[in-house]
Amino acid sequence: MTANPHPVFAAMRHAAAAHEIPIGPGVTGWMVTRYEEARRALADPRLAKSPTTAVMPPEMVKPGLSKHMLNSDAPEHTRLRKLVSMAFTPRRMEEFRPRVQAISDALIESLKGREVIDLIDDYAFPLPFQVICELIGVPMVDRDDFRAWSNLLLDQFAQGSPEAAAAATSMVDYVGKLVIRKRDEPDEALLSGLIAARDAGDKLDDDELTSLVFLLLVAGHETTVNLIGNAMYLLLSRPDQAKALRDDPAAIPAAVEEVLRFESPVKTATLRISVAPVEVGEVTIPPGQLVLISLLSANRDSSAFTQPDELDLTRSEGQHLAFGHGIHFCLGAPLARIEARIAIESLLSQFPQMTAEGDLASPQWRPGLLLRGLAHLPVNLGAH
Ligand code: HEM
Repeated sequence: MTANPHPVFAAMRHAAAAHEIPIGPGVTGWMVTRYEEARRALADPRLAKSPTTAVMPPEMVKPGLSKHMLNSDAPEHTRLRKLVSMAFTPRRMEEFRPRVQAISDALIESLKGREVIDLIDDYAFPLPFQVICELIGVPMVDRDDFRAWSNLLLDQFAQGSPEAAAAATSMVDYVGKLVIRKRDEPDEALLSGLIAARDAGDKLDDDELTSLVFLLLVAGHETTVNLIGNAMYLLLSRPDQAKALRDDPAAIPAAVEEVLRFESPVKTATLRISVAPVEVGEVTIPPGQLVLISLLSANRDSSAFTQPDELDLTRSEGQHLAFGHGIHFCLGAPLARIEARIAIESLLSQFPQMTAEGDLASPQWRPGLLLRGLAHLPVNLGAH
């Protein structure tokens, strides 16, 4: 299922609109796999977010980590999202594009002269991480620690473990210290503005502030690293398509959308709980059930896309669900798109001879239900 989940999802879509499946030790939930049903479910207020903290592993519900928009329903959600939504609009992100390009250029410069690198560790991870740190206005200290904690917290197999609990404690301390440091040295970036809002009294409390920073730091890199990695993996496996994009960079935005559809970086949307009976196709999910919505599966549904298992980088039909849908639609989508376009264009043009190092037929996919991305992608940069 980790290596190739697509045939399993195809069989599930064929068999029923929703399936009861085991999702943890002694815990079952419902998985929604078809496109129309998934789209409807993502926007259905009867599939609520706020009760999910009651069933999350304890380390995830520390108030300093969990009081954020992705765990909230309206009207709380509206208030929390509004505090930052203006900072992530397509226009604001366009203004930030030169900084993303500069961060990418510096990373590429640091790779010049090397032969074999890990495209994930050496480029796909540091790019979005540096970008989100700069946007929030936090120093990029302890990057490796932060990444290790973040990976542990998002890896469902580790959740509930002493390691995950320790990671959560470290994360709360880390974000808390960032906030203290920023209060002493305010600047023009997002965090200083949020601290000012918090200190003004009524807009958000302490835990909401650290939870928001945690959410932005984690959501800002855990997903985009997968998009860049998946895109480069697919292009390395298809040199003719890579060449077509190198020759015509104007085709890259459409290619990014197709990669988002074809190997969706967020495999399954975050957990929801039914607060009333919810009809999903011919199935009725009773109240009080955990519900998972598979974006990866919905995006391969033949009722929404022709020949869904073909990667067609020029595809223009359909609207993929890789960024979700409804009130929780990804706040960072405009930024993620800019990052991925810059990454693909820069890597293809700067390293035209890049080839995969090792077996492309058996890449190392990260485990877990939540994310679809590669743990490592060793490449040979070739002559450059
Ligand atoms: C929400 C995907 C990049 C911030 C979401 C959701 C998805 C998603 C599917 C909805 C989850 C749900 O409904 O359960 C992605 C993908 C990305 C990406 C595929 C990259 C390719 C980013 C970036 C940021 C970000 C760069 C940084 C700002 C957020 C936030 C939410 C969110 C704050 C919660 C929105 C809400 O609850 O209203 N993302 N994301 N994401 N994403 Fe992203």
